[in-house]
Amino acid sequence: MKSLEILFAISLVLGTIPAHAEKATDITVYRSPSCSCCGKWLEHLKQNNFTIKDIPTEDMNAIKHKYGVSDEMASCHTAVVNGYVVEGHVPADDIKVLLKTKPSVVGIAVPQMPSGTPGMEMDGKKDPYDVMSFDSDKHYQVFKSHSK
Ligand code: CU
Ligand code: CU
Repeated sequence: MKSLEILFAISLVLGTIPAHAEKATDITVYRSPSCSCCGKWLEHLKQNNFTIKDIPTEDMNAIKHKYGVSDEMASCHTAVVNGYVVEGHVPADDIKVLLKTKPSVVGIAVPQMPSGTPGMEMDGKKDPYDVMSFDSDKHYQVFKSHSK
C-alpha cells in the first residue's frame, strides 16, 4: 500500500472521513397542536437526522385508530416512517434499528409518557421504560428495554 492509501485507511478507521454520509429519513408526525412534549420530541428527531412532516390535528383518536395504535400502546403523538408506525416518545436510535432490521410488525411504541424519554426530560428524573413492538393482532413484544 502506498502511504496515501494507508493514511486514507487510517482516517476511515478513526472516522475522520465518513465512509458514507447518513441520509436524512423522512417521518410524518401527527400531534395535538397544544402538546409541548411533542415539539420536544420533534427536536430530538431533527437532531438525529430526521426530516419531519409535522401535522397538527385535534383528532388524535382518529389517527390512532387509522394506524392501528391500541389503547395499551397509546401515547401523545403518532408518527409514520417507511410504512412503520412510531407511537410516543421513542428514541431516534430505536427508530433507526427498526428501519434497519425491518421486523414484521405494525410499529413500535412507548406507551403513555414516561419521564426521561426523549422529549420528556424532567429534572433528570428517569422512569424505566420499554419500547414495545406491536402487530395488528395486539401482540406486544419488548423491542428495546430502557429499564436501567
Ligand atoms: Cu408526549
Ligand atoms: Cu407527543
